Amino acid sequence: MEIHPDCERILLSEGDIRKRVVELGRQISLDYAGKELMAVGILKGAMIFLADLVRNITVPTRLDFMAVSSYGLSAYSSGEVRILKDLDQSVEGCHVLIVEDIVDTGLTLNYLLGNLKSRGPASVKLCALLDKPSRRVLPVEIDYNGFTIPDEFVVGYGLDYNERYRNLPQIMVLSPRVYKKGE
Ligand code: PRP
Repeated sequence: MEIHPDCERILLSEGDIRKRVVELGRQISLDYAGKELMAVGILKGAMIFLADLVRNITVPTRLDFMAVSSYGLSAYSSGEVRILKDLDQSVEGCHVLIVEDIVDTGLTLNYLLGNLKSRGPASVKLCALLDKPSRRVLPVEIDYNGFTIPDEFVVGYGLDYNERYRNLPQIMVLSPRVYKKGE
């Protein structure tokens, strides 16, 4: 497949992602054997990863979603976390697995882990497709990590820039000329 004209290079191909998602699903299924899972997708970036991941999980799994604000419409995090949409279901007594596309500064996940742990769940773990540790401000323990990536602006497979590129099937490095224009 051809590289999108706004992107510099492909960081992770469809095959790379598929293979890793199968491995993550297998590991999660083993770890939660005999339990029911409550997968909590964080909108909107995690939606495509969540859809693929849960189809590789073999234990009974419920789905719910939260939406929070962190980046807003800028390329850099504002540092503020607000719940825009809360869960529909109670997580009391549940084995919660937060599913995220990326952990960057850690502000969002640090907040979400604390918030969900305070609701009386049986357990809370985090599965993130991408980890960008070079940008970390607050510590976050990632229980299931897909890939550790360098400090580059990535889009595709759910990740956006100004709400675009989420539908690209690969994870690509966005050309700096695209986001520098909008600054
Ligand atoms: C992204 C990502 C995480 C957060 C991570 O979401 O999905 O929620 O940023 O960044 P942090 O570690 O610096 O807090 P974003 O706010 O871009 O929203 P989106 O999922 O709707 O794209």
